Amino acid sequence: MPVLTAHSLTRSLGTGENRVQALRGVSLAIEPGRTYAIAGHSGSGKSTLLYLLGLLDQPDSGRLVIKGHEAHSLDDAARTALRNEHMGFVFQFHFLLKEFTALENVMLPMRKLGRLDPDAMSEKAAALLAAVGLADKSARLGNQLSGGEQQRVAIARALANDPALILADEPTGNLDHTNADRVFALLSDLVHARGQSLLMVSHNPDLATRCDHVFQMQDGQIIT
Ligand SMILES: Nc1ncnc2c1ncn2[C@@H]1O[C@H](COP(=O)(O)OP(=O)(O)OP(=O)(O)O)[C@@H](O)[C@H]1O
Ligand SMILES: [Mg+2]
Repeated sequence: MPVLTAHSLTRSLGTGENRVQALRGVSLAIEPGRTYAIAGHSGSGKSTLLYLLGLLDQPDSGRLVIKGHEAHSLDDAARTALRNEHMGFVFQFHFLLKEFTALENVMLPMRKLGRLDPDAMSEKAAALLAAVGLADKSARLGNQLSGGEQQRVAIARALANDPALILADEPTGNLDHTNADRVFALLSDLVHARGQSLLMVSHNPDLATRCDHVFQMQDGQIIT
């Protein structure tokens, strides 16, 4: 069974003469254990699509099914629960809570889900930080980390609840070539090993083609 299927999603944004048809009928399926890239020019609708798939925004029309649940028929509380349990996010320009340590940032999604005791949460967060190469910086505050380090903490945080689906908008955008490579390899290996799925927006053609499948977007549609 796919983790997620989308059927003919549409979404307009803005008001009056600035209103834009950001998505014009997007359909796709995400299978477990696979990595997907969304490529396309600036303004083609990549982030808008990711927000809809992550239940952070609602389509004007179309259907979205996540882990067998019809997302549009759920109330806000059920949507939030579905998101916390099954999804991890790494978004463009949305990094860490700066006044919290790296460890606390990674623990936040675990606290929201409320399934682990505090010791288990901090142990798991420490292991995730080690996996992204930040074992020695777990006690640093968010604002005492470099941009690239913050991005890696954000990736550890996205993995906190072992989500079925990781949605990432330019997850390696702030990283140099070597670290971008490392972070992508880490995400890709984890996803394949654990049967999770990754859907990643990337302007980096090298990384996009290392995904199992590339969705090419143009003008609010997936063209290939
Ligand atoms: N809040 C908004 N109000 C009005 N228009 C918007 C809004 N957000 C996005 N748009 C428009 O919707 C279209 C799709 O935007 P989106 O952010 O999804 O593009 P993108 O493919 O992610 O681009 P980029 O690669 O630059 O991040 C663009 O034409 C954009 O100008
Ligand atoms: Mg974008």
